[in-house]
Amino acid sequence: AATAQSGVVATAPAAAPVAAAAPLTVLYGSQTGNAKHIAADYAEAAKARGMDVKLVDMADFKPAKLKDEKFLTIIVSTYGEGEPPEPAEKLHAFLASKKAPKLDGVQVAVLGIGDSSYEFFCQTAVDFEDRLSALGAKVVHERAMFDVDYDDHTEGWINGALDVFEPELKAAAPAPGGNVVPMPGVAAAASVSQYSKKNPFAAEVSVVQKITGRDSTKDVRHVEISLDGSDLTYQAGDALGVYFHNDAAEVDAILEVLGVDGAAEAKLGDVTKSLRDLLIEDLELTQAYPTFAEKYGNATGDEKLIKLAEDKVLLRDYLEPRQIFDILRDHPHQIEPQALVDSLRKMQPRLYSIASSQSEVEDEVHLTVGVVEWDAFERGHLGGASGHLGRRADEGDSLRVFVESNNNFRLPQNPDTPTIMVGPGTGIAPFRAFLQEREAQEAEGKNWLFFGNPHFTQDFLYQVELQGYLKSGLLSKLDVAFSRDQAEKVYVQDRILENGEELFKWLEDGAHFYICGDANRMAKDVHAALLEVLKTHGGLNEEKAEEYLANLKDQKRYQRDVY
Ligand code: 2AM
Repeated sequence: AATAQSGVVATAPAAAPVAAAAPLTVLYGSQTGNAKHIAADYAEAAKARGMDVKLVDMADFKPAKLKDEKFLTIIVSTYGEGEPPEPAEKLHAFLASKKAPKLDGVQVAVLGIGDSSYEFFCQTAVDFEDRLSALGAKVVHERAMFDVDYDDHTEGWINGALDVFEPELKAAAPAPGGNVVPMPGVAAAASVSQYSKKNPFAAEVSVVQKITGRDSTKDVRHVEISLDGSDLTYQAGDALGVYFHNDAAEVDAILEVLGVDGAAEAKLGDVTKSLRDLLIEDLELTQAYPTFAEKYGNATGDEKLIKLAEDKVLLRDYLEPRQIFDILRDHPHQIEPQALVDSLRKMQPRLYSIASSQSEVEDEVHLTVGVVEWDAFERGHLGGASGHLGRRADEGDSLRVFVESNNNFRLPQNPDTPTIMVGPGTGIAPFRAFLQEREAQEAEGKNWLFFGNPHFTQDFLYQVELQGYLKSGLLSKLDVAFSRDQAEKVYVQDRILENGEELFKWLEDGAHFYICGDANRMAKDVHAALLEVLKTHGGLNEEKAEEYLANLKDQKRYQRDVY
């Protein structure tokens, strides 16, 4: 069953929107959906109070319109070294630019979400608040900064902010409102399913198949999961959220090294279970994080950890290669089961770009999972979700999942529009979904795929399918970069440069350009290559080339799903 292509799902019933004189505008900037969901909760709460609310993805907001706003709430996440999520980039940059207008009449409240493991925690929220207030906006409610495991703690801030806005809004617009007015093309709610991040579906894992060769340096698994029995639907471009289990053997090693009884009961939120079960099912063990060093150090009086926790940079270097077991083995202390639980973070689901289209696979969902593994401290380490899916899951196992929609990564509405897809490594995943969907649509638009990986014989993911698509004509062009098959490294961006003339023509013909995969290096290098193509073949200078790409982004013709 094909899903709707428009991506427009309104939370409000289709009542005629009453345009308020001054609605409460909720602007969210979200990469993995957290900020989007908080914004949706906030808009719902405002609506329940009879306020007029406009819920808008920053990616769809015209920065110049900011000066027309009166009541504004910003809900935004932060990535990496204090960077805005992609959909927030444009507005974030605009506020720092000379074009930013005076915002004297604007009242604003800002909520940030981030990861306290990083030095620039919630930096984007801080930036927004600083810049808005520098432009004259009045901050009317104290900024919130939530950590990744913020679960459900947002209610207090939401009510506090709405307590401030409600009387102001009603004074400004006496007409009773009560509408959430979704902007065109903006999804207010991800999916209508009863299953969500808070209420995941227990799905069955039906296939786990290694798709890299025996001699590959990588272990990539093709995973198929059945959504049968759920009402979950997804669109090409969406992600699947996966709650995994930690390795029971590793949990037992933790219990042993601490000498604590795994059968002892402990509490996590409203849940009471054995310590062992909590460690396997509910707590983060595969990534080490600063709050653990700090809390565990304090709970046990471990001077070394306490001291280390004072220096964010040293601490990060220490934590980087380690998992919770490594820290506990080096710092074993007698600790109450509850104190151990309290020092750990609640497990966060991992998001995987979906590698299938429902038009093709119906109630299945496919993932392309690169197993994260490294050796250190005389033992092997496996990533959380990838270790579970790639190494420990058996076909037939149950897995808790949910769909996280991503309206910032979508095929063109018009099937005649050409696409250019750049997806090296596991970045191929959403493009397999795109191609399945385009095939089902019998789309006439041309498709061009760039794929890269170390070796042709070992790492050509989905080789048979992709070459089949080339043969059938679904793919007009397939350019591959096997980086280690020759003396000199060759990457996807080199293929882009080699094909610059034709690529520029495709863009001029209206092609949509997509990148999926590594954010740190690949996506930046591909972006640079694209600029180079525009300069060489479009005759643009640096500034004009940047402008060209900014325009593509505005038209949703340049989309990225990078991590
Ligand atoms: P390498 O590991 O041989 O250097 C998928 O991981 C592929 O992306 C691999 O072939 C990898 O090459 C390549 N890769 C590494 N760095 C890259 C970069 N900066 N840009 C593009 N591809 C890169």
